[in-house]
Amino acid sequence: MGVKKLAVIGAGSMGHQIAMLGSLAGYETTIQDISPDSLQIAKSKLSKIMDKWVVKDKITSDVRDLAFERLHFTTDLKEAAGDADLIIEAVVEKLSVKREVFADLDKFAPSHTVLATNSSTIVSSLIADVTSRPEKVCNMHFFFPPLIMDCVEVVKGEHTSEATASLAMEVCGEMNRTAVLLEKEISGFIANRILFAIQKEAMSLYEGGYADYKDIDVIVKKALNHPIGPFELMDLSGIDVGYYVMQQQFEETGDPKDRPSKTLTEKMEAGELGRKTGRGFYTYDTPVKN
Ligand SMILES: NC(=O)c1ccc[n+]([C@@H]2O[C@H](COP(=O)([O-])OP(=O)(O)OC[C@H]3O[C@@H](n4cnc5c(N)ncnc54)[C@H](O)[C@@H]3O)[C@@H](O)[C@H]2O)c1
Repeated sequence: MGVKKLAVIGAGSMGHQIAMLGSLAGYETTIQDISPDSLQIAKSKLSKIMDKWVVKDKITSDVRDLAFERLHFTTDLKEAAGDADLIIEAVVEKLSVKREVFADLDKFAPSHTVLATNSSTIVSSLIADVTSRPEKVCNMHFFFPPLIMDCVEVVKGEHTSEATASLAMEVCGEMNRTAVLLEKEISGFIANRILFAIQKEAMSLYEGGYADYKDIDVIVKKALNHPIGPFELMDLSGIDVGYYVMQQQFEETGDPKDRPSKTLTEKMEAGELGRKTGRGFYTYDTPVKN
C-alpha cells in the first residue's frame, strides 16, 4: 500500500524540515510536538525558508502555498498518528523517550502504518520491541538540514520486512532525496560513524594540547579539503546533539572511550550549545536557531 498521509513527531531542527519535504512531495503531512512553542517556531521558520525559495525561483508561490495547505500542526499525538501511513519520529535523542513515543504510536496508528525513527545513532531494534509490529519499524536517517542535505540512510534491522524498507526508500525518492539502504544495523550507521571518528580524534588532539581547535579546523579544511572543520560542525549541529549521541553510545557500549569528552561536558554545563545559543567553540553575533 502506498503512502498518502505522513506524520512527523517532533518539530525541532530536523522534524519541521522533514515534514516540509513530505508536504512538498505531495503527502498530507501532520507535524506533532508536545511543545506548542516548538510548533509555532517551526511554522515561522518554514514560512521564512519557503519565502526565500520563492524569491530564489526554487519553487513557485503556488507550490509553496499548496505545501502549506497540506501541512498540519498539532500537539495531539493521536490526531497525528490516527490516519498516517508512515510516521517519522524526530524527538530528542534519548532512547527512553523514543520507546515511550513508539509505544504510543503503536496504540494510535492503524495496523498497516510504518514507523520510522530519524535517530542519529539508535538502531530501530532497540525500539521495535515496544510495538506489536516490529516488521514495520526501521530507521530513516535524514541529515541536517533536511531541506538542503540530499541523503537518507534507510536501515533495516533483522525485524524489518523488505516491504517496509522498500516503502521507506520509495518515500525518500518522492521527497527528492538520495536514499541508501543499509542491509544490516550498526549503531551510528555509516556517515556518523565516519564523522564521529573524525570528531573524536579532533577532540583528543585538542584536549591533548597538540593544537588549538581553530587550528585543527584550519588543517582539516585546507589539508583534507573538508568544507567545514570538526569544531565548526559541532557548533553548527549543536553541542547538545553531539553530547547526547556520545552519551547514548556510551550506554550501549560501556566503553569509556565513547563517554562524552571533558570539553563537551563543560560546554553542556555552561549552556554553550553552538550557533543556536550564540556560543559554542566559536562566538556568533546572532544566535542561529536550527
Ligand atoms: N540535529 C541534527 O543534526 C540531527 C541530524 C540527524 C538526525 N537527528 C536526530 O533527529 C532527532 C531530533 O533531533 P533534533 O536536532 O531535531 O532535536 P531538537 O531538540 O531540535 O527537537 C526535538 C523536538 O522534539 C520535541 N519532543 C520531545 N519529546 C517529545 C515527545 N515525547 N513527543 C513529541 N515531541 C517531543 C521537542 O519539543 C523538540 O521540539 C534526534 O533523534 C536526533 O538524533 C538530528
